[in-house]
Amino acid sequence: MAGSGTAHLRADDDVILGVRNLTVEYRGKGDERVYAVSDISFDARRGETVGLVGESGCGKSSAAKSIMQLPPPTSGSVQVDGVEIVGLRGSEMRRQRSKLQMIFQDPISSLNPLRRVEDIVAEGLRIQGDLSKAEIITRTRAMIERVGLDPETASDRRPHEFSGGQCQRISIARAMVLDPELVICDEPVSALDVLVQAQIINLLKEMKQRYQLTLVFIAHDLAVVKNLSDRVVVMYLGKVCEVAATEELFSSPVHPYTRALIDSVPEPDPTAVVSQAQLEGDLPSPMNPPSGCRFRTRCPSAQERCALEEPEIREIRPGHFAACHFPLVDGPVDKVLV
Ligand SMILES: Nc1ncnc2c1ncn2[C@@H]1O[C@H](COP(=O)(O)OP(=O)(O)O)[C@@H](O)[C@H]1O
Ligand code: SF4
Ligand SMILES: [Mg+2]
Repeated sequence: MAGSGTAHLRADDDVILGVRNLTVEYRGKGDERVYAVSDISFDARRGETVGLVGESGCGKSSAAKSIMQLPPPTSGSVQVDGVEIVGLRGSEMRRQRSKLQMIFQDPISSLNPLRRVEDIVAEGLRIQGDLSKAEIITRTRAMIERVGLDPETASDRRPHEFSGGQCQRISIARAMVLDPELVICDEPVSALDVLVQAQIINLLKEMKQRYQLTLVFIAHDLAVVKNLSDRVVVMYLGKVCEVAATEELFSSPVHPYTRALIDSVPEPDPTAVVSQAQLEGDLPSPMNPPSGCRFRTRCPSAQERCALEEPEIREIRPGHFAACHFPLVDGPVDKVLV
C-alpha cells in the first residue's frame, strides 16, 4: 500500500515512541469518510527530534492527536516505552499518557480563557494527585519562570492578557511541568511572527536539552524542521512518503514529493539557479484519494504503474527510506541498495 510499510521502523531499546499502521478516519456527510491518516508508521528514539512535515491537510494534526489518544486512532498501534497505549483505560492510561504531552498550533485558543495562568499550568499536576497543594504551587511557579515569564505577575492573569508568544510559553510550561518524556509539538510556531518564532524554538531547544526530551516536531515549514530535527518523516495525503536523517533527506531527497517540497522553498540566494520540480495543483480530497500512489496526480515522474499499485516503503539508500516506484536516484535502485 502506498506510503505503507514498516521497513523504516527501528527495533532497538532506544525507541521511545513506536507508531505502527496508524489510521484515522472521520465520518463525513452521509456515508462519506475522510481518510485523514492511512496506515502510517514511524518511530522516535530517546532524545531524538523527529520532524513530521507535509502540506496543510495531509493529516499531521490528526496523527498527532491520535497518538495522544485524543481521540484514539481508528486503528493501529502506539507504543510508549514499549507499552501499547491504544485501548488503555483509567489510571493506567493516565500514567502512560503523562509521559506524553502535546503543544498545539494556536496558543491562545488552546488555553482556557477563564482560568488563571497558574491554574492552567498546575492542572495536570492536580489531576495526577501525587503532590501536596504547596508542592504543586512551588513546582508550577518554578516552571512559569523557566519558560521566561515572571510568576509574580503572570500567575493571577488570564490568557487574553498575554501575546501569542507568551501564551505559547504558558503552553510549554503546562506540558513541561508534568515532566514528560516525549512532547509532540504541532506547528507550535506557525501562528507567531518570525522574531517570536525564533524565541519559542530556542525555548524548546533549551527544554529539550535540560530535560533530555524526545520531540516530535510537526510543521509545514521545511526550514523549521530542517533546523530542529535529527530525522524527518514526510507525509502526503495521509501517507508516509520518505524517512531519512535530516541532512540526507534535504541533500538527496529521493521521493518526487519531497523533492518538489524542497524545490518550492524560496532560494535565499537570488542568483542561484532555481531547480526543477515545483509543486503544482492542490492536495486531492482525502475523501476520495487517488488510486495507487496518492501523489500520482501531481507527480512529474508518474507512470502507469503508479495508478495501479501502491508503492511500499523500502530502503533506497542505507538508512534512507521512501515509498515510490520510481525514486529519484542516479541509475536503477538495485544498484543503489540491493
Ligand atoms: N474532526 C474532523 N472531521 C472531519 N474531517 C477532519 C476532522 N479533522 C480533520 N479533518 C480533515 O482531515 C484532513 C487532515 O487534517 P489535519 O490532520 O488537520 O491535517 P494537517 O494537520 O496536516 O493540516 C483534512 O482534510 C481535514 O479537513
Ligand atoms: S513516481 Fe509514481 S510512485 Fe513515485 S511518487 Fe510519483 S506517482 Fe508516486
Ligand atoms: Mg495541523
